[in-house]
Amino acid sequence: MLLHLSTWQEIEDYLARSRTVVIPIGSNEQHGPTGLLGTDWMCPEIIANAAQKTGDLLVAPTFNIGMAQHHLGFPGTIALRPSTFMAAIGDWCKSLAYHGFEKIYFLNGHGGNVATIEAAFSELYAEASYAGRPRGFACKLKNWWELKGVMAIAQRQFPTGHGSHATPSEIAVTQWAYPDAIKSANYAPQVAPTGPIREALDFRARYADGRMGSDPGQATPEKGGELVAQAAASLIADVAEFSAEVAPA
Ligand code: NI
Repeated sequence: MLLHLSTWQEIEDYLARSRTVVIPIGSNEQHGPTGLLGTDWMCPEIIANAAQKTGDLLVAPTFNIGMAQHHLGFPGTIALRPSTFMAAIGDWCKSLAYHGFEKIYFLNGHGGNVATIEAAFSELYAEASYAGRPRGFACKLKNWWELKGVMAIAQRQFPTGHGSHATPSEIAVTQWAYPDAIKSANYAPQVAPTGPIREALDFRARYADGRMGSDPGQATPEKGGELVAQAAASLIADVAEFSAEVAPA
C-alpha cells in the first residue's frame, strides 16, 4: 500500500490494523559515469514498492535528499547538511506519530546518511523522555544491502570490484527498474580507487569520475532483479518482526 496513492480514510483504516510505516530514504548524488543521480533513493523505493505488492506494508513517500555534501563537486548532487536533515526527519516522524504511527521503519540507500539518521532518532527519543511520553514509539534504520540474504547474493554476483560507491549492485537494481535509463561508459581504471571521505573538493580530487572502489560495468538488469526479489522478501519479514515488538511491561 502506497501512502501517496491512498486517501486519508484508507490510512485511518490501515491504522486500525497496524501502527507501522516504511519510509524509503536516500540521497540524490552523483554515482559515477553510469550511475543515475537518484540511485540511493531509487533503490530503497524500488525494493519497498516491490515488497508492498505482496506484503501488507504501508510505504510513505520517499525521502530523497540526504547527507551528500561530499558529492557536491559533481553537478546534479543535492545535499542537506546534517542539522537540516535531522530536523526534517524529526518533522516527518512527528507528523506520522501525530496520527498514531508508533513504528517508523526507514529503509536506507545511502551509507552517508546513517550517522545523521541515528542522531535524528536520538533527538526524537530525547524529546519523548523529557516530555515523559508513554512507551511504544520506536524508529528503525535498515540499509537495503543489509536485508537478510542480499549481501550474499551481491558477493556471489560481484566477487571483485563491488566497492562502496557507485557499486554494481545498486546500479543493477536501478537497471532492473528503469531499463530505458541504462548508461554505458569506458571506465578508467576499471576498478576505482578507495580512500577516505572528507569535503567536496577533496572527494573530487581523489575520485575523478565519482566511483569508490567499484566496477559498475558488471551490473545487469537480471542481477538487479535477483537482488530486488531477495530484498523485498526480507523487508516484509523484517518489518513484520519490528511491528511485533512489544514494549516491556
Ligand atoms: Ni549509492
